[in-house]
Amino acid sequence: MEKFYLTTAIDYVNGAPHIGHAYEKILTDIIARHYTQRCDDVFFLTGTDEHGIKIQKTAAEKGITPKELCDENAQKFKDAWKALDVDYTKFIRTTDEEHEKIVQQIFNKLLEQGDIYKHSYEGLYCTGCECFLNPKDLTEDGLCPDHRKKPEVVSEENYFFKLTKYKDAIIKYIKEHPDFIVPEFRANEVINQLEDIQDISVSRAKSNVQWGIDVLGDEEQSIYVWIDALSNYITALGYDTENPSETFKKYWPADVQVIGKDILKFHSIYWPAFLMALNLPLPKHILAHGWITIDESKMSKSLGNVISPTSVLESFNLEHPDAFRYYMATSAPCGRDGNYSDEDFKEKVNAHLANSMGNLLNRTLSMLVKYFDGEVKPEFKGENPLAKKALGTVQIVKNHFDNFEIAEAGLEITSLVDAANKYVQDTAPWTLAKEEKMTECGQVLVNVLDVMCIIASLIYPYCPNIARDMARQLSFDLSTKLDDLTADNIKYGKLISKEDIKPVFLRLDSELADKSAKKS
Ligand code: ME8
Ligand code: MG
Repeated sequence: MEKFYLTTAIDYVNGAPHIGHAYEKILTDIIARHYTQRCDDVFFLTGTDEHGIKIQKTAAEKGITPKELCDENAQKFKDAWKALDVDYTKFIRTTDEEHEKIVQQIFNKLLEQGDIYKHSYEGLYCTGCECFLNPKDLTEDGLCPDHRKKPEVVSEENYFFKLTKYKDAIIKYIKEHPDFIVPEFRANEVINQLEDIQDISVSRAKSNVQWGIDVLGDEEQSIYVWIDALSNYITALGYDTENPSETFKKYWPADVQVIGKDILKFHSIYWPAFLMALNLPLPKHILAHGWITIDESKMSKSLGNVISPTSVLESFNLEHPDAFRYYMATSAPCGRDGNYSDEDFKEKVNAHLANSMGNLLNRTLSMLVKYFDGEVKPEFKGENPLAKKALGTVQIVKNHFDNFEIAEAGLEITSLVDAANKYVQDTAPWTLAKEEKMTECGQVLVNVLDVMCIIASLIYPYCPNIARDMARQLSFDLSTKLDDLTADNIKYGKLISKEDIKPVFLRLDSELADKSAKKS
């Protein structure tokens, strides 16, 4: 594998980030970190989507300019990703000058080659979706099914993109590439939507939408947000219709583009069509994740249950985001909806990270110190009954990642921890020590510690801080590639002293923080 390019959706900046946005960025960061353990060259793009009527309206309500609103909120997204250790390579904003320039160039190229044409139109526009809706997709009361709002009747002369021209090619592509849309069960939905697809508006009248990229040579029109937003995935790499950059040539096509299920249509129909029109290859995979609910109900401003990711870290007094990252990533199989609740969060991370994983390391190192003054002797190395399962788990985890089964991979790691715990329980090294079977006792401890190194490596994408703390106490090199992992990791000699043993994760036993503090 030579390179790995992955992207997230770019978030609207008409508000602050919530844990649904965070879920997607954490998933993508976990995939990125996993592939850095398999490949030297990972490029991880995220950013913000800053144009459109929604931003324009929110700014007007607040009495500030759209640009001020974007600057303020884009910073909140960056701060949140920093707090969550979302370690992107590049953060693109669609108001970046470089991006705007290339979007105009793309628009003009499509106009020149006849893929974009002008047309008078009357339609139903939903500002929540930032797109025209098909009347047959509305609810019985005539509302947008996603936003529960009545769309506006808009009558304008707009530029249109010939989506219908690409319909058959897209259907063919999806059918020939069953792993293009992940999870696969969503592909049928997309094929059905494609059946009655229409050409789409790609501009809006400036009299209605001022906050957008100008159509070059037409003062009346601004470029419609989805062609602007989707282009970020290539403009960020330095795409140019005339002279694409080396970076672009190296990284495009994307290996995976992570998005929420609500915007699958834009990514599996509009985006492929734009790429085909530009004569560019399609991304290898579109990963459509599910929706995060709060206490089983939809997160919404009107319900007042919107949770910001940093408030979770604060209310549980977490010194790093690992527990939240682990919880979010394993909350549901990718593609299915997941749920957040304080109680479940606390219960799950206490069980998996503190009681199972953290305690196992702590107990084993403490016994090594107690019985052997922290020293590993050559005779402690022998046949390791856990080795096969541990190395097998590495392969299983890799396979899960290849199918973007992030939750499933996480649970495999937990199952390896459970197996190691059971081994300690069954072999009872404390009894061996009491019976003065010291070599056998030392062997058991080192067998477990050798496997703990593999566990540190596997848990790293989810819990980078915990993994580093584990690796430090094990004197294990965390930058070891997954394919170079063996079951022989612990070196001979003094491994650790009592004062250097530190629990890697403390139970969350504090009283549940005041929930109202979390509402943003
Ligand atoms: O759609 N649970 O932006 P956005 C899980 N700008 N994921 C959620 C979620 C939730 N409760 N709420 C939102 C846009 N998301 C466009 C994207 S891409 C070229 C342009 C996800 O701020 C949502 O599915 O409404 C999407 O992938 C991302 O957050 C941004 O949503
Ligand atoms: Mg949305």
